[in-house]
Amino acid sequence: MAQPEAVIDSAAPEMSTIYIMGKRYEVPKGLTIMRALEYSGYRLVRGAGCRGGFCGACGTVFRTQGDYRLKVGLACQTVVEEGMHLTQIPFYPANKALYNLEELKPNLATLVQLYPELPRCVGCNTCTKACPQGLDVMDYMAKAMRGDIAKVAGISFDCIMCGLCASRCPAEEVQYNVAILARRLYSRYIAPPAGHLAERVREIEGRKYDQELDRMANMSIDELKELYNTRDIES
Ligand code: SF4
Ligand code: SF4
Ligand code: FES
Repeated sequence: MAQPEAVIDSAAPEMSTIYIMGKRYEVPKGLTIMRALEYSGYRLVRGAGCRGGFCGACGTVFRTQGDYRLKVGLACQTVVEEGMHLTQIPFYPANKALYNLEELKPNLATLVQLYPELPRCVGCNTCTKACPQGLDVMDYMAKAMRGDIAKVAGISFDCIMCGLCASRCPAEEVQYNVAILARRLYSRYIAPPAGHLAERVREIEGRKYDQELDRMANMSIDELKELYNTRDIES
């Protein structure tokens, strides 16, 4: 997902004219929207996180020159275009149910009780087109309407909770919140117990790692860096 950003040629960068919240700016071509915002003097306290397309904090709505359609994307992954109009939507105030997972059942009734708007989906596919992760959002919503918790959990696994799907939905659905509810229900009630996890918990409770943790707690920063850099990495 992460892409290299263009290096600004400080001698004579080629510039693009863009409009941030209606105000005109000149920015070097090839910048992402996030870099263009900062180049223009915006300090991103909200609307920026990982800068690599993983955290979903930088949802942005924009329109390109000569096109009437509104588009959405991640500011850290979308490159500015000449004449682009844009604004950020770092938070989308959509419906968010509160629940205690221990009191829920993994079925359709739970999904509809917590998100009563679920059956209102009209199957327009706008959410899928909006998703910067390339997820088939309409498909997982269709599975949710059938109560197929496992399928929703699987299809939505790479959702980064950016909220862009909800921002475009004509039925006021909150796809990502339905999806995370399904993933929680799946993990709690449907997925087979992870044997290796139970084993590791037993080891920790048996204090197997205490000595090693004590040794690391007394290491210098350089020793810790060396340990980190030479750690075993799963392939
Ligand atoms: S945008 Fe909304 S109404 Fe359209 S398919 Fe997606 S969830 Fe359904
Ligand atoms: S499903 Fe919605 S919230 Fe999740 S990544 Fe796609 S657009 Fe963002
Ligand atoms: S800053 Fe994390 S996805 Fe853009």
